[in-house]
Amino acid sequence: MRQRSVHAATLRLSTALVTVLVWGAVGCASDPTQPVEAPSQPTTEASFAIIQDQVLTPRCAGCHAAGTTFANQSGLVLTEDVAYENLLNQPPKNDGARGDNLVRVSDVGLPGIFKSFLWEKINWPQEEHFLGDHPDYGSLMPLGGPPLTYGQMEFIRQWISAGAPRGGAVVDEAVLRDTRVYQPGPFAGLEPPAEGLHIQLGPFNVMPGHDREVFEYRELSHVQDLFVNRFEIAMRQGSHHFILHTFNDDMPDELLPAVGDLRDVYDENGDRIWTTIYPMLYHEFFVGTQTPIANYTFPPGVALRLPARIGVDLNSHYLNRGADIVQGEVHLNLHTVPASQVEREARVLSLNNQDFSLPPGQVSTVEKTYTFNQRYNVFQLVSHAHQYMLTFEVELVGGARDGELVYFADDWEHPPIVPFDPPLVLESGQGLKLRAKYDNWTDGPLGFGLSSEEEMMILFGYYYTD
Ligand code: HEC
Repeated sequence: MRQRSVHAATLRLSTALVTVLVWGAVGCASDPTQPVEAPSQPTTEASFAIIQDQVLTPRCAGCHAAGTTFANQSGLVLTEDVAYENLLNQPPKNDGARGDNLVRVSDVGLPGIFKSFLWEKINWPQEEHFLGDHPDYGSLMPLGGPPLTYGQMEFIRQWISAGAPRGGAVVDEAVLRDTRVYQPGPFAGLEPPAEGLHIQLGPFNVMPGHDREVFEYRELSHVQDLFVNRFEIAMRQGSHHFILHTFNDDMPDELLPAVGDLRDVYDENGDRIWTTIYPMLYHEFFVGTQTPIANYTFPPGVALRLPARIGVDLNSHYLNRGADIVQGEVHLNLHTVPASQVEREARVLSLNNQDFSLPPGQVSTVEKTYTFNQRYNVFQLVSHAHQYMLTFEVELVGGARDGELVYFADDWEHPPIVPFDPPLVLESGQGLKLRAKYDNWTDGPLGFGLSSEEEMMILFGYYYTD
């Protein structure tokens, strides 16, 4: 572990040095610190042409041009004449990525995101994951930064999800209006919101070479129900995830944790602490993130109810692959609106299939369809399973889009939290089909259960009804 992180850090440092030299010497691109201006008029220009004009040509092709050392090193030319051919379904030059069976850009649609090396290379907000889990993937692009804008990254993500066509306007250009740029660097925390709640967890120590997951129970003091329409989360570097849970109605009083105690999931020997684990059975997801900075606004008029004086369980997970103690810390802002502005209450979707058994020594797939008895507008999904999961897919059932894949995860530890704007509309009688594939490599059957030696098949999300 420690070795890996040192490797990643050195790699990054040397790249930064190279890049400083590079910017001066080659003058690769037009000034990358200036956000590209988003067009104000919607056009029907092909999405890939927009990517070429606004990203590849100005931000990448300076280095990725025929004859440069960069092009030789990366094996990749991104000038307009050849960029598409060099990306689509082409094996990466990078050995690690090729070994993981990635292609530069996959054309298979939504699951293609996880097969596309281009996406890994430009996804700066996942810097921790990139550097920590894939030290052999080279550097984030554009080399040396600054990152693409959030809008540009999202545009490319949606283009890949749509099958990465050469022609056709498959992504709404409005996405490009988000010209914010991911800022790595020192933790700045969050100022309390103008209206709403500000919650802090930590700081707490995470020892070198350790994985520390903690919970802390709090009783909130607001005396009237609040309506949350936006949340912001900022985490000190090194975090895996943060989730604010509430407890469902079945939570037995005797399991309620003491207020303000930082409860570890593992003890010093790496063994599970069951008093921390049992209450997890009664958790209900409220808000959460896997990126160091999250800022999410609900659709207009939609808000989540936070009942008066509710108890919340804060959950943070840090990995420290370095040689020094690091501090874990999370700030959360729940922005609220007056009840009078809420047209529809957001609800937490929790589709929890506990009825499965995975035969030993083989790969098996579990499917379960949930149909709704009124119109559901689903605007966020995230899956939850344990270490035996290979893939987790969700398809629409019924209606014109029957069979369309809307969610895909192939990493049980980092399932993506996928927003839908506009929401997925599921009419009465339509629904969602969950399909999870597991590899039960043990010699006994596996079923639903809390521990990491058991499995789960849960889809969380947000929705509203009309
Ligand atoms: C300053 C020069 C420079 C700039 C600017 C640059 N790259 Fe790179 N790129 C490199 C180098 C050097 C490599 C090989 C080393 C590595 O992967 O870190 C590379 C590798 C890559 C690879 C991996 C290719 C493979 O098959 O292994 C991709 C994908 C990539 N770059 C995409 C981009 C994109 C997209 C941009 C613009 C957003 C960009 N690069 C901007 C220098 C650059």
